Amino acid sequence: MRTVFWEENQLKMIDQRILPGRLEILAYTDHKSVAQAIRDMVVRGAPAIGAAAAFGLALAGYESASTSTPDLLADLRAASNVLKSARPTAVNLAWALDRVMRVASSANGNADDLRAAVLDEAQRIADEDVEINKRMGEHGAALINDGDTIIHHCNTGALATVDWGTALGVIRTAHEQGKRIHVLVDETRPRLQGSRLTAWELEQYGIPYEIISDNMAGYFLKAGKAQKCLVGSDRTAANGDVANKIGTYMLALAAHDNGVPFYPVVPISTIDLSLASGDLIPIEERDPQEVLGLEFMGERVTPPNAKARNIAFDVTPHRLITGIVTENGVIYPPFEINLKKAVLGQ
Ligand code: MRU
Repeated sequence: MRTVFWEENQLKMIDQRILPGRLEILAYTDHKSVAQAIRDMVVRGAPAIGAAAAFGLALAGYESASTSTPDLLADLRAASNVLKSARPTAVNLAWALDRVMRVASSANGNADDLRAAVLDEAQRIADEDVEINKRMGEHGAALINDGDTIIHHCNTGALATVDWGTALGVIRTAHEQGKRIHVLVDETRPRLQGSRLTAWELEQYGIPYEIISDNMAGYFLKAGKAQKCLVGSDRTAANGDVANKIGTYMLALAAHDNGVPFYPVVPISTIDLSLASGDLIPIEERDPQEVLGLEFMGERVTPPNAKARNIAFDVTPHRLITGIVTENGVIYPPFEINLKKAVLGQ
């Protein structure tokens, strides 16, 4: 089953808020509810968000009563802005919406032809995502040795994409190649994408794993008990700085200090050449309740009047990165030159 898919004129998505307790599919028929689902993290992970938003735009086409193509295009443009504003850091969101809008603007025929063209392009984005992830899996798996223990942060698997996954996709490919791998799963505070979602996926793939709290990673790296770190990315700047789930930077620092290779696994759609460095990447700050509402032994962990910050992403500077795995191969420093070549095919 795909994480995000189109069925019976509806967008259907696995509800990631309630996993691993329950596996439920929610159906969407309007773009505003899709934007809300992205905001609420029913769907999350950069490529999954991009595909969901593209299908959201297809829904906007069917919601619109416009019979002329200029009017329909105006409605789509408005819907695209609503969807784009759902979350700021993952560039795949804007990338997918801009790609669908480009197709819509150049489509021939009447309003219904335009609606069909928008849906086709959304479907193409979803299908391509799976194929791209498989290619990244092959390139990345070549870096993994039999017997490696890998530290993984957040969730970058089938759930973060349309299917297969980015960093977790590399782990799956290496596992399918027969390499014996052990995964140390960062639990990934505060939304627990590691202990809830990555562990759930690894369980199904039969890949051995142990969950560690985020602050244990340094211990394992220093003790020589992990040979690689694999993470995803929500946006990668032109110089190779990588924005990813909060805590990635600390993991990269500890990996670097201990000489452990650190690889982000990044579809080309996640590379934003318009930003010279990671300092320019917009960083999402979410509701403090996601930090304050955590429970321990059935009790809320914080005093009633406690305040909190909830920064959702951080930027790992390129100097801490060994190589960036893309569908076009593994990119090594100097990233400024080699990323551009990978993106523009030069
Ligand atoms: O806040 P989330 O769960 O959407 O964050 C997801 C991540 O940080 C992933 O590592 C990233 O999207 C890339 S993986 C496909």
